Amino acid sequence: MKTKLLTKQDIETAAAILRDGGLLGIPTETVYGLGADGLNPKAVRRIFEAKGRPQDNPLILHIPDASWLERYCCGVPETAYVLAERFWPGPLTMILPRREIVPDAVTCGLDTVGIRCPNHPVTLAIIRLAGVPVAAPSGNLSGRPSPTRAAHMLEDMDGRIDAIVDGGPCGVGVESTIIDLTAPVPRLLRPGGLPLEALREVLGDVAVDRAVLAPLSAGEKPKAPGMKYRHYAPKAPVTVVAGPGEGTARYIRERMGKHTGVICFDEFAGGFPGCTVNPIGSGRDPGEQARRVFDALRAFDGTDVTEIFAQCPGDAGLGLAVANRLKKAAGFQVVEIGEDAP
Ligand code: TXA
Ligand code: MG
Repeated sequence: MKTKLLTKQDIETAAAILRDGGLLGIPTETVYGLGADGLNPKAVRRIFEAKGRPQDNPLILHIPDASWLERYCCGVPETAYVLAERFWPGPLTMILPRREIVPDAVTCGLDTVGIRCPNHPVTLAIIRLAGVPVAAPSGNLSGRPSPTRAAHMLEDMDGRIDAIVDGGPCGVGVESTIIDLTAPVPRLLRPGGLPLEALREVLGDVAVDRAVLAPLSAGEKPKAPGMKYRHYAPKAPVTVVAGPGEGTARYIRERMGKHTGVICFDEFAGGFPGCTVNPIGSGRDPGEQARRVFDALRAFDGTDVTEIFAQCPGDAGLGLAVANRLKKAAGFQVVEIGEDAP
C-alpha cells in the first residue's frame, strides 16, 4: 500500500477514506492520531494491525462536539458536560459508560469508552464530513514515541495506512489528559495536555491513578490498559535524572561518554561536550517541554547513542505529563537527586 500525504485542502478525500473503512493519519493539537471509522469493527481491527498494538488496549473515540456524547455513552453525568463546556475542543479524554453501538473492537470488551473532541480545525471538519466517530490511538508504531508532525508519523506508518493529513506540527505535543468519570471520585488515568490543576478547579477532588506515578508491580492491572506497556521509547535505554537542574546536570556530566545522549533544559545545553544533546526548552517552561519531548526522544534513533540521560521537570502544570512520558520512556528507571546534593 502506498501511503498518500494529504493537505488541509483534502478534507473530502480524507473523509471518504474513513467512510470506506480505510486508515487515516489525522493531526490533532496533542499528537497525530491513526484514525478509522469507530463504528466499523473491521476498520478498527486494522488499526491494531498497523500499529502492532496489543489486543487488550482500547481506543478512544473522537467526536466534533459534546452533542455526540449521548450517541455513544449512557448515564452521562452532568460533570461531563461541565468539563466539555470548559475544555472541549481540547486535550481532555473522558471515560464514560458506553452504549451497545460502540463495537467491542474499540473498547476491547470494557463497558466504558474514552471520548474526546480534538482541537484541530482540519480534523474536526473531516470528522463532521465523514459523519462517524473516529477511533484513533496515537499514530506511532506501538511502543515508539508519539508523532507530533506528519513526517514522524510517516516514518512509522509508511506503507501501512492509506494516507496522512499534514496539519502542521502539534501545538500541545503530549497526548490528552484522561479522566475516568465512572469512578466514585473522578480519577486521573493519564496526565496530558490539560493540567491536573485545571481539572481540580472544576471537579474539586481528583484521584490520581497509581500507574501515573510509579511502575506497576507484576500482575497489577492499571485502569487505563495502555499504562502497563513500555512506551515512548527510543532504541537506546533511557535514565531519568530527577531533581534540581544543577545537581542533575552534574550527575549526567560525571557519567557521560562519547555515545551518551542527553535530554536537557536549554539552560544546561552547553554543559555536555561530546554528547548528542537534545534540549527541550527552558526548565521554567513545561509547555515548551511538552511540545518537544517526543521529538527529542525520537531524534536519538539513527545516531550512535547507546545510552540516554534525561533531566526531568517537577509535577506542576504540564510538568506532570512531561515527567510521566520521560519516566515511561525510561521504563521508570529514575535517579532522584536531592535538593542539597554536593
Ligand atoms: O491525545 C490523545 O489522546 C491522542 C490523540 C490521537 O487523540 N490519542 C491517544 O490514544 O493518545 P492512545 O490510544 O495512544 O492512548 C489512549 C489511552 C490508552 O492508554 C488506553 O489504554 C486508554 O487511553 N483507554 C482507552 N479507552 C479506555 C477505557 N475505556 N478505560 C480506560 N482507559 C482507556
Ligand atoms: Mg499512544
